[in-house]
Amino acid sequence: MQCFRSSKKSNHHHHADYATPVNDAANEVTFTINGKTYKAGNGLPEDTSLNTFIRDVASLKGTKFMCAEGGCGACIVSATVEHPVSKERETKAVNSCLVPVFSCHGWEITTIEGIGNRMKGYHQTQAQLAKFNGTQCGYCSPGMVMNMYNLLEGGHAPTMAQIENSFGGNLCRCTGYRPILDAFKALASDATPELKASCVDIEEVYKICKKTGERCSGKCSIPADLPKSVALSTGGANWRKVNSLAELRDALVNVGETPYKLVAGNTAEGVYKSEGIKEYIDVKGVPELRSIDKKPGAITLGGNVTLTEAMNFFASVSENEFKYVNQLATHIDWIANVPVRNAGTLAGNLSIKHAHHEFPSDIFTTFETVGAKLNIMDAVGDVKTVTLADYLVLDMNRKFILSIELSKKGENHRFRSFKITPRAQNAHAYVNAGFCFEFEDTKAWKVVGQPRIVFGGIAPSFTHASNIESYLTGKNLLDSAAISGAFAELGRQLNPDRVLPDATAEYRKNLAQALFYKFLLGLDPSKVSDSQKSGGTNLERPLSTGKQDFDTDKSLYPLNEPIPKIEALAQCSGEAEFVNDIPSVPGEVHAAFVLSTQATGTIANIDPTEALAMPGVVGFFKHTDMVHYNTFTPPDFGYADQEEIFCSGNVKYAGQALGLVVAETRELALKAADKVKVEYKNSTITKPVISMSEVLQNAGSRIHPDDKEEENEDETASHRTKAAKIIKGDFEIPKQYHLTMENQSCLVLPKEDDSFDVFSTTQWIDLGQAVVARCLDIKASKVNMSVRRLGGGYGAKITRPSQLAGACAVASQKLNRAVRMVMPMTANMELAGKRFGLRNEYEVGVDEKGKIEYLQAKFFQDSGCNLNDSPLRSTREHFNNCYDSTKFKVESQQIRTDTASNTWCRAPGTTEGVAFIEEIMERIAGETKLDPLAVRLANLHNNDNPIAEMIAELKRISDFDARRAKVNEFNAANRWKKRGMSLVPMQYPFDFWGNHPAIVSIYQSDGSVAISHGGIEMGQGMNTKVAQVAAHILGVPLDSISVKPSNTLTSANAIVTGGSLGSEAVSYATMQCCKELLKRLQPIKDKMPNASWLELIKNAHGKQIDLVATYMFTPKDNVKRYNIWGAAIAEVEVDILTGEKQILRVDLLEDAGQSMSPMVDIGQIEGAFVMGMGYWLTEELIHDPTTGRLLNTRTWNYKVPGAKDIPADFRVTFRKNAKNPDGVLQSKATGEPPLNLSIVVLFAVSDALRSARKDAAGDDKYHQLKPPATAEHIFLAGLADPKDFKL
Ligand SMILES: Cc1cc2nc3c(=O)[nH]c(=O)nc-3n(C[C@H](O)[C@H](O)[C@H](O)COP(=O)(O)OP(=O)(O)OC[C@H]3O[C@@H](n4cnc5c(N)ncnc54)[C@H](O)[C@@H]3O)c2cc1C
Ligand code: FES
Ligand code: FES
Repeated sequence: MQCFRSSKKSNHHHHADYATPVNDAANEVTFTINGKTYKAGNGLPEDTSLNTFIRDVASLKGTKFMCAEGGCGACIVSATVEHPVSKERETKAVNSCLVPVFSCHGWEITTIEGIGNRMKGYHQTQAQLAKFNGTQCGYCSPGMVMNMYNLLEGGHAPTMAQIENSFGGNLCRCTGYRPILDAFKALASDATPELKASCVDIEEVYKICKKTGERCSGKCSIPADLPKSVALSTGGANWRKVNSLAELRDALVNVGETPYKLVAGNTAEGVYKSEGIKEYIDVKGVPELRSIDKKPGAITLGGNVTLTEAMNFFASVSENEFKYVNQLATHIDWIANVPVRNAGTLAGNLSIKHAHHEFPSDIFTTFETVGAKLNIMDAVGDVKTVTLADYLVLDMNRKFILSIELSKKGENHRFRSFKITPRAQNAHAYVNAGFCFEFEDTKAWKVVGQPRIVFGGIAPSFTHASNIESYLTGKNLLDSAAISGAFAELGRQLNPDRVLPDATAEYRKNLAQALFYKFLLGLDPSKVSDSQKSGGTNLERPLSTGKQDFDTDKSLYPLNEPIPKIEALAQCSGEAEFVNDIPSVPGEVHAAFVLSTQATGTIANIDPTEALAMPGVVGFFKHTDMVHYNTFTPPDFGYADQEEIFCSGNVKYAGQALGLVVAETRELALKAADKVKVEYKNSTITKPVISMSEVLQNAGSRIHPDDKEEENEDETASHRTKAAKIIKGDFEIPKQYHLTMENQSCLVLPKEDDSFDVFSTTQWIDLGQAVVARCLDIKASKVNMSVRRLGGGYGAKITRPSQLAGACAVASQKLNRAVRMVMPMTANMELAGKRFGLRNEYEVGVDEKGKIEYLQAKFFQDSGCNLNDSPLRSTREHFNNCYDSTKFKVESQQIRTDTASNTWCRAPGTTEGVAFIEEIMERIAGETKLDPLAVRLANLHNNDNPIAEMIAELKRISDFDARRAKVNEFNAANRWKKRGMSLVPMQYPFDFWGNHPAIVSIYQSDGSVAISHGGIEMGQGMNTKVAQVAAHILGVPLDSISVKPSNTLTSANAIVTGGSLGSEAVSYATMQCCKELLKRLQPIKDKMPNASWLELIKNAHGKQIDLVATYMFTPKDNVKRYNIWGAAIAEVEVDILTGEKQILRVDLLEDAGQSMSPMVDIGQIEGAFVMGMGYWLTEELIHDPTTGRLLNTRTWNYKVPGAKDIPADFRVTFRKNAKNPDGVLQSKATGEPPLNLSIVVLFAVSDALRSARKDAAGDDKYHQLKPPATAEHIFLAGLADPKDFKL
């Protein structure tokens, strides 16, 4: 077996070696990856992650990374590790971004490459995900596959529910999860016959490993005689792996005063980063810390029992006296996600709380509620037993949590815990709570002794609600006087702090009270009135299902055929290459931006001395290095404002790029970037303006009227008198971060003849090429831009990547070295702008039926620090939606704020325009007490509008009326759970624009076909459509077609891929190329009518016919502007006592023309809708009011939808017989329009709240639910008030 030893030079100063070497300890760690042995020792930085090792040392690029903090799942691998107690080798999913490579001693690691690939055949999980179209951009796919692979490993047969529950840690921004869940649920032990039947027939369809489920590569190659202990020095720090308490104590004695850390799962790094550690002590191998012991009367868990082990154990306990630990199992399932729980341990979790009291630890809250005790051991072996509350203030220096003890509880006690989070899974608590009571009996509910009431997430020093603990002693808990007294006391004692970006104190305080009420309601439902009962239960989510309904025409196949994406298997096996997967070249260096931490002021001085002094740092670049060009928004590309690549003095926003550090490794570049010292002038004088309201209050120079278009006459004055009702209102909608799973990246390689190869994560190669050429003062023809694919774009990668490209190119030219840059998620969020925030201020007059007599609207758009990339035109256009807009008068203005320049984001402007008019429809209905749907119907325009008919159809197939009646019944019967429904229609005027080239080459040797086009494949499936079109037109099999990367040679001057039209446009260009080729072949065909394709091609080649054709699609081609029509219905349920919601069902009907590729289009629709759900329901951006910095830049605090946030029942139907004569091959675009429909979920939640507000306040006055409808906003709008907390 070939072994690999890293040859990288140390970048660190030497640090003292161990004072006392451990006998028999290895001075390097040994592990295998896919059966191959690797060793890591001196020479690698001590904090090197397994992910970095896998990608950069083992050169296996299938394993991705994005967040680097356990929050996204892109990096999941499989680890087989011997358990120190059972001695069995266990296989589990772990986040390779959080595993330090030095903690992998003795591990067998399997990566995506190890389970299947094109050479050895694909693993069933890979084939399954591909077949179900569970990939779009494919960046999340290896992580998805590896998570599933681990669920099945060791012969496990998970159920559908278990599978669905296990993907909370895997984000996907493209698919909306439904196909991923279906693909994997089909492998469940209890899969429905329908799903089972749709499983991949692995023998037939794919080259599958013969031994399915087994690793393709070698078996365990960890030598049996490997020393168990490790003591090594990396040069920067010492690593020691200990295997007994004695060794651990020894190590603690030896650390002296050196900053040290125990390493168990190392997942705490995903919450708070540690710094300056010089001694690492890996404790995972200490049996006493990993054992679970149950005796009559006591359960003892070793401190470093993993969360998964604890959860499984707690779930298995059935003795009455310990029944309460089942609730602990339930609660641990709410912590983090599967791979984090597999690695993370109880003591590790408690230690976070110890170091950061504000951390809402779920282990702390629940274990303290049940009165757990900790056994703390010190370096000499003395053990002290403490309560968790006492532990918080204990000096833990050179001590450790040996074990945790739980004692039995009597029959009459009750324990329940809660955790309320911003999304269904993988989110920390706003507030968590535990209630543990003992009663005299369970009829009268008289409280015996002091109950335990614990809240997390209130304030760093707050643990017990001690006032009511004493107050309730001896009281009958279900007595109404006792209850109101308790709430009064509780209200007095709860005084939450507020630290941004966390939720408001008001919410957390009221929520804590509501949770206590929930506990009371759930205690003895027989004592609770019927209408209040539902308050006692949590929202219960059924197993999700989905249905996709479309027709296809077999005579056109492969066009119109529902096929998986042509790259799907490559994506699912990690073979699909993204920019950062391109192998490194000798001498390559890595770059990291230095970002401003202030939003205003000027730069007084930038001092990179300290950064440059770090060994391995090669350079620092700033605006003065941009002698030729310093903008990535050139005027000749239509940009009004020239945004600087590096700030030249005046800071425009916090997060702006000030300079670029270049170093030997990415990690080093990032660390060095932090060391660059920046001095600001005057930044404290002007407070940053971060919201539009600040500007609107003071007006002034920050408001810019948008370019005017033809407007309707202002008939306001004359209509005002006629209107039955006049309504004035406003609606403000937030910004949204794109969250591409692939962060912005770039690789620049200097080539001969002063040219440069540039690989950029850009949707717009033409812009990138120009910017690079100008920054380097070379001809555009010397810049070779190429894009294979993007790991998600959604507009984020239209203009912004050219900033990276320009910066890296300058560094590359100056250093004459290849420069690579991959932004961390945090910097990515700070640097680049978001979806534009918008505000609508309006006045509308309506008649008795709610028909609009006149409408005056003023749009204000938060553009960020400049006016570029504005989609306001679309906002205005789509504001008309499917309504009679002859009486609409719209003005729009841009507002400059001291925040990043906002940019295109999937369905830019159109989403916002539809949202504005639909909110007005809702408000008209609310104010006039008319049915919202009736108001919409009253306002439809009659101009060739099929919406009324589509609404009727959608209502029919979704059983709308009956369900609406049931919702009303449900709401009448329940005070604390409410349901809501809404219907939103959509007209999406669609236009063609730009230049879209394609080139098609036929090879004479075998007749196969290669295509390159000017579009950018970013998950929308354009390559699949292009291949289907070419196969269809040329009449050749699909597998003879190969779609190549897009580049500036074959697709010079290509317009950006965006606005949903890319797929159609490049399909058109490809079609024209194919038609041209057929035309050239026709004379030969006429002569040899029975010739095979190959004979035809050979013959043509012999006759010197050019078998390469190019074509550039433009709007001058035979296409016309057309409309895309759609409608969606959502039904939701809301827990008024917590603010949580769940989307019970969504029915979406869309007119997709005659789809070129129905599975691809279904994917576009589901994915866009779910991205929109995130926008309206969970995603919120919060800035620091003083510095202007964006505060939530992590998966930890910015929450996009997860697998259990999607509609529990999601049905997508294509309108039947909807061939589109005006588009390309009868199709319609699908990438963006469904996002416009997603606001239906906001209105459905609002509908549910209407009933709650009526119950609470007695009237159902219109109330606007502000987006995003986070749990916080829903709770506050639901008016849950302790005075109403009755049984
Ligand atoms: C994405 C993500 C989501 C999360 N969500 C939640 C959540 O919702 N709720 C929640 O409560 N937590 C959450 N966590 C925190 C998670 O539970 C902890 O990261 C984990 O339990 C820490 O355990 P570990 O073994 O990985 O600790 P490590 O990272 O290995 O160690 C953390 C600290 O504990 C110390 N330590 C380790 N073992 C001992 C010991 N035996 N005695 C004394 N000190 C010790 C170490 O010195 C170190 O300082 C989340 C974490 C991540 C990454
Ligand atoms: S990169 Fe590891 S979880 Fe996101
Ligand atoms: S396919 Fe999942 S993130 Fe793109």
